[in-house]
Amino acid sequence: MEKIEKIISLAKRRGFVFPSSEIYGGIRSGYDYGPLGLELVKNIKQAWWQAMVQERNDVYGLDSNILSPRIVWEASGHLENFTDPLVECKKCHKRFRLDKIESISTSTSTPLSDRSEIKCPECGGELTEPKQFNLLMKTQLGIVEGEKGEAYLRGETCQGIYLNYLNVKDSMRARVPFGIAQIGKAFRNEITPGNFIFRTREFEQMEMQYFVNEKDANQYFKAWKEWTFAWYKKYINDENKLRMRQHEKSELAHYAKEAWDVEYETSFSGWNEFAGVHNRGNWDLSRHGEFSKQKLDYMDPETGERFIPWVQEVSMGVGRAMLLFLEDAYTEVETRSGDDESKHETEVVLKLHPALAPIKMAILPLAKKEPVQKLALEIQSRLNKKYMTQYDETGSIGK
Ligand code: GAP
Repeated sequence: MEKIEKIISLAKRRGFVFPSSEIYGGIRSGYDYGPLGLELVKNIKQAWWQAMVQERNDVYGLDSNILSPRIVWEASGHLENFTDPLVECKKCHKRFRLDKIESISTSTSTPLSDRSEIKCPECGGELTEPKQFNLLMKTQLGIVEGEKGEAYLRGETCQGIYLNYLNVKDSMRARVPFGIAQIGKAFRNEITPGNFIFRTREFEQMEMQYFVNEKDANQYFKAWKEWTFAWYKKYINDENKLRMRQHEKSELAHYAKEAWDVEYETSFSGWNEFAGVHNRGNWDLSRHGEFSKQKLDYMDPETGERFIPWVQEVSMGVGRAMLLFLEDAYTEVETRSGDDESKHETEVVLKLHPALAPIKMAILPLAKKEPVQKLALEIQSRLNKKYMTQYDETGSIGK
């Protein structure tokens, strides 16, 4: 069995991740977090929030609305640019991202001279011409259909940060350079979700936007790149599988001047992106200023200089971080079990960092009867004020 399949199976058996709407056959690429999974998720978010907000004086927190009007996504450029080229098989009618099947075709056969030679990876059928497909999820506010009620589920959490840049700056009396951080759900109509919780249509992001003067942008970009890499490195066992990779010009998102990814060498598809650090220039604040007709520029109180701040962004997926930590922590060990000394069994150990581990302490009384049981429960009721604990009197630990 492949390692990812073992992780998926363990995640279900042990209450980390369940397929969503499972009793109805599931919803494609939707997952629910079970009792242990949600503790792990909470700990990942807590570790990030503590380092990003709690332990700094220059980053403020925010929790903004998930829904926003169409104009926000026009201004952000996502309605125009947040698209993937999509092709459909004329025979089986399945849809695929053109760039994905092009890369499959070129890696498995001799180089293609003509796109028409690319066939459906499922049934070998002929494919349609590519069409641009927007990844944003649209919905309707209120009961009257039409453009007025048109709203979008956010495709990235940082847009709520730009919309609140003035509110946070004024209410906190913040001075550039400063940052705003947010953790929350984002939604994308991904054409090819997959690899378990790696790419889903509903997912959670941890994002921070740092507002700086253009002349200081390079210095802060470098600092946030280092911060992001160090954050991941702190929580994994095998740092040889972690690297930073710069985006080629052709890969850059419409808002980015420069971008680097934190990549991890996964067992399921090699090096993959787990976080991004982007120099977004003043794209977002200038566009929102232009579309909202509000002044989003900043006046330096010391020099009197007026400018639109440049944004240095740190962006990570919570589910993706969880998958990376599970991949890194998953270890199989051989144990002797039973009375027969020669009997070996494979057991799974998750070598998770203590700050991330769902359960911090286990209370395992050696006997099921009083007074041991009573004492064990008393100890637990003291510990669980501070820590997530587990009580188990059925195990054979005492033998
Ligand atoms: N605000 C910038 C931004 O959203 P991105 O590279 O599109 O940049 C940032 O996404 C991070 O969000 C990724 O590194 C990944 O961890 C996570 N992410 C993006 N799309 C995802 C998806 N469909 N499923 C799970 N996580 C995703």
